[in-house]
Amino acid sequence: MVDVLLGLQWGDEGKGKIVDYLAQGYDIIARFQGGPNAGHTLYVDGNKVVLRTIPSGVFNPRTLNLIGNGVVIDPVTLREEIEGLKQLGIAVDTNLFIAHKAHLILPSHRALDAASEAAKGKDKIGSTLKGIGPAYMDKTGRNGLRVGDILTENWKEKYEKLKNKHMEMLAMYQDIPDWKSWEAEFFNAIEYLRNLNIVNCEYWINEHLANGKKILAEGAQGSMLDVDYGTYPFVTSSNTIAAGVCTGLGIAPQKVGDVYGITKAYCTRVGSGPFPTELFDETGDKLRDAGHEYGAVTKRPRRCGWIDLVALKYAVMMSGANRLIVTKTDVLDGFDEIRVCTSYTVNGETTTEFPFDICSDNIVANYETLEGWGNNMTGCTDAQALPGAFLKYQHKLESFLGARIQFVSNGTGRNNLIKIF
Ligand code: IMP
Ligand code: MG
Repeated sequence: MVDVLLGLQWGDEGKGKIVDYLAQGYDIIARFQGGPNAGHTLYVDGNKVVLRTIPSGVFNPRTLNLIGNGVVIDPVTLREEIEGLKQLGIAVDTNLFIAHKAHLILPSHRALDAASEAAKGKDKIGSTLKGIGPAYMDKTGRNGLRVGDILTENWKEKYEKLKNKHMEMLAMYQDIPDWKSWEAEFFNAIEYLRNLNIVNCEYWINEHLANGKKILAEGAQGSMLDVDYGTYPFVTSSNTIAAGVCTGLGIAPQKVGDVYGITKAYCTRVGSGPFPTELFDETGDKLRDAGHEYGAVTKRPRRCGWIDLVALKYAVMMSGANRLIVTKTDVLDGFDEIRVCTSYTVNGETTTEFPFDICSDNIVANYETLEGWGNNMTGCTDAQALPGAFLKYQHKLESFLGARIQFVSNGTGRNNLIKIF
């Protein structure tokens, strides 16, 4: 079976740490969408490691890791990541596999990302500027280059053709970065990529499934950034919900098993776009400080607010999340009250449905207020010792969302994880 682990909010729910823990129970960890816009932060033997394109199973020597065809790959970041891991003594050469149908991010994609965001001015998406949007546009526009193309004879020609097209597009913009200087390192990284294990993803994964291997699909970004169902147009360019697993890895829907959905005990968002429970006051600042809410990739301060059960229920529904994981509960230590959003008022009407016109200014979040749990989440090590106020919060979430919480994370370390069932 292929189990799935994904974020239910706007990313940064703490997926890296959880997948690192869950990896112990799986033979293969696979990334199915996104690219180096992701930043999965893990703490391994006291070292902070940020993974971008590589699945978080690499710390477990017996786990195989697959970068699926739904991912967009920047060879430069990929090489940096592999070399960085090697310095920590983690061998990735033998247990990393890359789909030959995964699309490549070119230097000119990064330039187009930067130029088009700059042109949007105040309407900008707040992209990570890693070239994700332009690379996926070329994929659906049927112009893209795939990893397998670098192994073909006319690779250079294909590259030049797409590059020339990009140059015509770039000519329409004012603020163009000096991307030509990025080409040399790109071609070096392409040589490096050539020597990695490039595989036919769909056959590779289905053979492993037929041999009874257990696979975990690791989502990036979050459900509310899904290109179809997120807060469009303030979204990323891939399907971040469970549906993306089938197209991103080449497996049938019957092969999907459990879906782990991760949420923070509060909510954050990095970049622009709607965020109904955002706090602009000192409570928001307190969350940001206590939760160290700064982007792993871009270092931008994250916007912070209360947990949004309306958005979460929508995300749980679309992915069929049946095992919830609540992270960063220790960050809410010291809050006298904890709020949870249980409905919106949209143009004067109250609803528990996620509205179409989510970008409208006429959306107000309505809250229920729960009692805080003092300082009792920090240091808690087992389910029997969870504070009473936390149990009330847990039951509120479970009854509203219709799914059970299986794990609670209460710190950055590998050990700060409480299993409930
Ligand atoms: P892009 O995917 O880099 O184009 O960014 C589109 C939007 O998604 C921006 O608001 C980004 O901040 C956000 N985003 C992209 N990747 C991540 C992520 O891994 N975590 C959180 N937000 C992300
Ligand atoms: Mg992140």
